[in-house]
Amino acid sequence: MRIAVVNGPNLNLLGTREPALYGRETLADIERSLRTVGSELGVELQFSQHNGEGQIIDRIHELRGKVDGIVINAGAYTHSSLAIRDALSAVEVPFVEIHLTNVYAREPERHHSMLAPAAVGSICGLGAYGYELAVRGLSRKLAASRG
Ligand code: DQA
Repeated sequence: MRIAVVNGPNLNLLGTREPALYGRETLADIERSLRTVGSELGVELQFSQHNGEGQIIDRIHELRGKVDGIVINAGAYTHSSLAIRDALSAVEVPFVEIHLTNVYAREPERHHSMLAPAAVGSICGLGAYGYELAVRGLSRKLAASRG
């Protein structure tokens, strides 16, 4: 099974970006831990990070037919980008939305997700561990749907 982990804007700065909110782990640290989880589950993981909305959309298009699922933290585009949701729906790849922080406990403009209506599920507020839960949850769902 193949799962792509797609990260959006500013997540390349994890580790130094507002650590009180986002923690001290870098994106490379998170990817390293996820590789261990992937090996345990027999899931091949592909990682990418993009600061632009168009780059995220291009990446989603590239993934069509190449992966079984996507774990996506679209960063601030989560709250504004119908185009990213449309891309995810267009490629027909099941996805889980993930956020390090509890977006519902933050400013009102972060309370709405454009992606959530099309997601298999959403995880937020559990820090970097949320990525592991997202990969585990999505792989289980995909395995169940294969029967
Ligand atoms: C985030 C939450 C978003 O509101 C914010 O814009 C981010 C990170 C998170 O992981 O908590 O960039 O997606």
